[in-house]
Amino acid sequence: MNLTIIGTGYVGLISGACFAEFGYQTVCVDKDQNRIDELNQSKCPFYEPGIEDLLNKHLNKTKLLSFSNSLAESVKDADIIFITVGTPSKRLEGDADLSFVWDVARQISQNIKKYCLIVTKSTVPVGTTKQVKQIILENIHEENFDVVSNPEFLREGSAIDDFMRPDRVVIGCENQKSESLIKELYRPLNLNETPIVSTSIETSEIIKYASNSFLATKISFINQVADLSEKVGANIQDVAKGMGIDKRIGSKFLHAGPGYGGSCFPKDVKAFINTAKKHNVDFSILNAVDSFNDRRVSEITNKIISKSNLNKGDTATILGLSFKPNTDDVRDSTSIKIAKILNTKGINIKCYDPEAMPNAKKENAFLTLCDDSYAACNNSKAIIIGTEWNEFRALDLKKIINNKNKLCIFDLRNIYNPKELQELGFNYFGTGT
Ligand code: UGA
Repeated sequence: MNLTIIGTGYVGLISGACFAEFGYQTVCVDKDQNRIDELNQSKCPFYEPGIEDLLNKHLNKTKLLSFSNSLAESVKDADIIFITVGTPSKRLEGDADLSFVWDVARQISQNIKKYCLIVTKSTVPVGTTKQVKQIILENIHEENFDVVSNPEFLREGSAIDDFMRPDRVVIGCENQKSESLIKELYRPLNLNETPIVSTSIETSEIIKYASNSFLATKISFINQVADLSEKVGANIQDVAKGMGIDKRIGSKFLHAGPGYGGSCFPKDVKAFINTAKKHNVDFSILNAVDSFNDRRVSEITNKIISKSNLNKGDTATILGLSFKPNTDDVRDSTSIKIAKILNTKGINIKCYDPEAMPNAKKENAFLTLCDDSYAACNNSKAIIIGTEWNEFRALDLKKIINNKNKLCIFDLRNIYNPKELQELGFNYFGTGT
């Protein structure tokens, strides 16, 4: 089976490398020639554990993977074409911007030469896959192609494992022929008995948004309970544990923190709300999830400023800049948002992150980057742990504590034991503890 993947962003590149690992001849296409040149040297444009090894293996050893900037050439012999281009939020409106999807659909329709399956893997609002079909019908007879919706559920930082061992594969098809072909593609996953949810195209598109939105809801919910716990002297970690043991609730995504970030949840929640609005459906639950998450960073920053009495000219430290550990992605990162607010108040920011510093600095020149956590904490009035990288869990805190003044530490991800830090002499503030 020949596969063509259009768009070498996160989903496209991980899927391409993993399909090659399944044994399929796979070509990944991108119009950005620089990116293609780098990929041809097995250099990945983002940090993701394990990806460069896979690229290297299938580019140079098995030769199952290749990269091209020619969409026309790459779709000619394809049996399955995946659309994995970006669907960013439109400025102000919150709707997904689908212009890249439409453009790719038009180009596919002008260049395919034989029957193929055209699969939307990007996160796209309900109705998009059928609109892709309409665009392709302008040039290709309906017998010569089918469209399928096949959303992806990869998490940054553990994307390869998520692809190889997914909880489920969701496919939305219109007929038996396309369903059989896409099921055949995922046959390697039969070994781990991965459930395949085979449904209509619209249902499949909704499953993706509903899944991300539900997880975001869990996070906003636990964050609100954390705020209450803080006020009444309860401990949010024990609350989450006590709730999560109930199998109907589940323990995952109940970690309180500074709010959800990244390239998916904030954008997808807003787009899902907009879809509901267009259809006059009451999505008040998700509206609350979204607006609470938007407010959370400024509320947390105000707390940091007042508890540590930060004033203009003072220095604060941020440990962790990526939106979560094991990635260099700083899109919608809560750490960066906190840094920006502090910066507008004239507070100097020293920071350290194992992977995300170059990306963070690109758009935030005011950040002072340090070689390690200890250098970042030197002469600081407040330490903010923004991302729960493993290396922040075992810092030698005696090296950091400044005995003259009680140093404030804001453990936004609850990675330390409050008592131990208080005994060391820190003024400790967790989230919901
Ligand atoms: C998310 C989904 O988890 C994936 O299933 C989905 O495929 C992906 O979006 C996507 O649509 O492409 P990702 O954005 O990589 O994956 O990261 P998550 O691990 O879901 O974390 C998202 C945000 O929620 C992060 O800011 C994280 O810190 C926060 N979070 C997560 C919490 O604050 N508490 C939790 O308990 C879990």
